[in-house]
Amino acid sequence: MRTITLQLNNQSQHLRVLQLTDCHLFAEESGKLLGVRTADSFKAVLQAIINQQAVFDLIIVSGDISQDYSVASYQRFAHAIAVLKTPVFFVPGNHDDGPLMYRIFDQYGVHTERSLICGNWHFVFLNSEVYSVPHGWIERSELNFLKECYDAYPELNTVVVVHHLPRLVHSRWLDTQTMHNQDEFNNFIATLPNIKLVLCGHVHQEIDEVVGRTRYIASPSTSIQFEPLSHDFALDSQAPGWRYLQFYPNGQIETQVYRLPQGSFTPDVGVSGY
Ligand SMILES: [Fe+2]
Repeated sequence: MRTITLQLNNQSQHLRVLQLTDCHLFAEESGKLLGVRTADSFKAVLQAIINQQAVFDLIIVSGDISQDYSVASYQRFAHAIAVLKTPVFFVPGNHDDGPLMYRIFDQYGVHTERSLICGNWHFVFLNSEVYSVPHGWIERSELNFLKECYDAYPELNTVVVVHHLPRLVHSRWLDTQTMHNQDEFNNFIATLPNIKLVLCGHVHQEIDEVVGRTRYIASPSTSIQFEPLSHDFALDSQAPGWRYLQFYPNGQIETQVYRLPQGSFTPDVGVSGY
């Protein structure tokens, strides 16, 4: 276990995080996902964040950075996100090549450590990817890694970052692609009292719910959005988005979601698959 510590430099001593997720970038800049040029929507989100003049201490990217598993897509991501001049941490998603990311991202300035301490918050980054299939699975070794991280700093507020939201979203097609052993995962989480948040991507929509002592949050994609509560595959016409989170020393979390203007990067809503 390799833990990295980041020093907070703001007066209030609360930690401010930007979450980006599900960028689905291609090797080619012109690559489209269901009609959306994902490199363009990603850059538009980054520019909107710059325009907001928001201040944040770190960036968490919760998977599906790539759509085609290519080195070039990861280079494109790292090059683009460097404009924010903020440390970046990630987890792999089902459209990613996790081993490749862990091998190359250090060279491009993206952190590959999976245990991060900032103030009295501890972030643990888990891998739920099952290579080349949409659903997720948490291996026992990942739970052991989480336990090892947790036991090293049990007094800290803990955030688990993992791509697959381990909750049903009541969307029949999307719920077949959930973390398939989510009950095992959630039961394990429930045994660790200082886990305040499970932060996810994958569902391409805004989710924020509390289960027991733990909050579960998922966020809009920087590319296409899935229609909430849809029986069969359906795209939402909402624009690409991003999330800010503020973590306070007493364990409280505040969060806000923002989107590009409505009508930006509208996908081909008539398509029947993903
Ligand atoms: Fe995705």
